[in-house]
Amino acid sequence: MIFKSKTLTLCFSTPNSRPLISNLLMAQTRPVHSDPPPPLQQHEQQQEVEEEKSSSLSDTAAFRLESPTLCLTGEARIERAWSHWNKLGRPKLIVAPMVDNSELPFRLLCRKYGADAAYTPMLHSRIFNETEKYRNEEFTTCKEDRPLFVQFCANDPDILLDAARRVEPYCDYVDINFGCPQRIARRGNYGAFLMDKLPVVKSLVEKLAMNLHVPVSCKIRVFPKLEDTLSYAKMLEDAGCSLLAVHGRTRDEKDGKKFRADWNAIKAVKNALRIPVLANGNVRHMDDVENCLEETGCDGVLSAESLLENPALFAGFRTAEWIEESTKDGNLDQAHLLVEYLKLCEKYPVPWRMIRSHVHKLLGEWFRIHPSIREELNAQSILTFEFLYGIVNRLREQGVRIPLYQKDTHVTEIPADELASLQAPTASS
Ligand SMILES: Cc1cc2nc3c(=O)[nH]c(=O)nc-3n(C[C@H](O)[C@H](O)[C@H](O)COP(=O)(O)O)c2cc1C
Repeated sequence: MIFKSKTLTLCFSTPNSRPLISNLLMAQTRPVHSDPPPPLQQHEQQQEVEEEKSSSLSDTAAFRLESPTLCLTGEARIERAWSHWNKLGRPKLIVAPMVDNSELPFRLLCRKYGADAAYTPMLHSRIFNETEKYRNEEFTTCKEDRPLFVQFCANDPDILLDAARRVEPYCDYVDINFGCPQRIARRGNYGAFLMDKLPVVKSLVEKLAMNLHVPVSCKIRVFPKLEDTLSYAKMLEDAGCSLLAVHGRTRDEKDGKKFRADWNAIKAVKNALRIPVLANGNVRHMDDVENCLEETGCDGVLSAESLLENPALFAGFRTAEWIEESTKDGNLDQAHLLVEYLKLCEKYPVPWRMIRSHVHKLLGEWFRIHPSIREELNAQSILTFEFLYGIVNRLREQGVRIPLYQKDTHVTEIPADELASLQAPTASS
């Protein structure tokens, strides 16, 4: 449970260029609301990138990972998909993509508490290419942030490829979002609305598979009819998709609390495909993880909404909503997790709107007991870390504590000195 903490300064190549390492060392991200961290010395960066490269090259898998997928025959492509997955350690517990919410500090927090891999929030491929500010604000990463899926939405293969090339040195999959059901996706002609335009879907996947050095993954929703879902999934595999995440709700089933994800449909996809398949939907605690893996036969699970309330889910912690007879106080709570998250944000700056969103998600139940503190937070148009740590301290002073729970079968001990370090700093400290 200890972070290694060397920042990998992020760099971007110019549009249309190949991501040559020398190019990539030219630029670096700018944090949004504080001075940039001191960049690594260039030779250190070079060494890190080369170490990473050599570790992938030293893998003696049958297929060199730099070969774009579609250069390979059908059988070899499937083997390559599995050799990549195996090389990553077959991650099972995965942080789902969440706009404004699965940003670097949150991913690192979830990784500390058991997540094996994580997706970035969806990035808009065209804006990513065109706007440096968007790139710098919306995509940051570091050495510890692997395995990493970087997700884009797109409807133009060339634009998608340009965006993907900028990030491929920093991730393990470039993912395409075919699942977004929101109105903005309808207007922008991407996400789940491409389920009506399957030739566009195919061209996007093929373009990346033929030209990228990292594998392409896709995240989809299911169709109302199982046979449509299966032929969709097969088409993606044939187009060069190396890993498929299936959210078991249809495009119209937007409300995750109202509609249960269909694990049977996910299981059918898993049985029909030969590449790794991940299940998404209804994963709220570790019992769900185990049941989902068993029922669907999938290679891993994604969780989204439940992680926002409880980033320690994959370490076996659960919120009071899921208490059972065999659960007990896990000696950890959401305020501890918020303090950890804020410390990560101090180290790896992100836009304040993301931080604000996590404060509400993590302390939602606490604010229910003291709504005046929530109102104070809402009234602050400009946030500071001092103010946010102050909120945690005031809630504690007022005696609020809502523990996270653990079942006897999933116990993660948090050492006392570690817990002490998760107290919010006070003005005097
Ligand atoms: C705040 C939020 C933002 C999301 N953003 C994305 C996104 O950027 N890309 C995506 O593919 N899905 C996105 N989703 C959907 C989730 O990845 C996931 O598919 C969905 O919430 C179902 O999983 P769950 O039942 O564990 O919540 C988002 C969900 C939430 C709650």
